[in-house]
Amino acid sequence: MRVVVLTGAGISAESGVPTFRDADGLWEGHRVEDVATPEAFARDPETVHRFYDARRAALAAVAPNPAHEALGRLERALGDDLLLVTQNIDDLHERGGSADVLHMHGRLRSALCAGCGARTGWEGPMLDAAPCADCGGDLRPDVVWFGEVPLGMDRIQRAVAGCEVFCSIGTSGAVYPAAGFVQYAAAYGARTLELNLVPSEGTAHFAEARHGPASVLVPAWVDELLGD
Ligand code: APR
Repeated sequence: MRVVVLTGAGISAESGVPTFRDADGLWEGHRVEDVATPEAFARDPETVHRFYDARRAALAAVAPNPAHEALGRLERALGDDLLLVTQNIDDLHERGGSADVLHMHGRLRSALCAGCGARTGWEGPMLDAAPCADCGGDLRPDVVWFGEVPLGMDRIQRAVAGCEVFCSIGTSGAVYPAAGFVQYAAAYGARTLELNLVPSEGTAHFAEARHGPASVLVPAWVDELLGD
């Protein structure tokens, strides 16, 4: 059984990582155009670095929840028949036991050289970091900002077109291209399922939708899928 799982900020909410669009979400306290665009970084790199440095530091205080752990279990059962795609830049899927995670919006614990594109694992603050050891370029957070192209789209499109089950977890369905994967999966014949606290903006596109906390819905769905 080939399965694609797409996750968003909602899967990490119960671990204490704020979502973007809920009340008290990150986009309530920050303007996207100040911290999450290439133009913002060109204009005011210090503000952008401080925003991501704070979020990277906050990772130390959170832990995966049963939803992340259930997806780790699903990977161990399905192997390469599972593609786990996340829009999240935290590392809770990895810490929850998933070895192969496609971070389509990048990763907090990685630095990207704006000059040569080299990627380096990163801990601690990036503000005032030394330039790239290879080319002398400036380092930036390895995250995909608004107006930039998500990572891994070829692999995602192949997997979505070829899957039998497409499950979206904890995402508002507000940001494309991820919000469009469900229609693509359905067009290629997949069974589609939404697991989210409340109906997402795209809920009508799913054949089935279950609403409640990810920490409850995801383990139950994985049990069901694996026939436990
Ligand atoms: N369990 C399940 N779902 C939850 C939970 C929970 N405990 N808590 C919140 N949610 C749901 C919310 O109802 C909402 O629909 O998670 C969703 C989070 O939506 P967003 O905050 O919009 O996050 P996301 O969909 O991941 O955003 C997509 O937008 O800002 C950009 O690049 C950023 O990757 C991000 C992208």
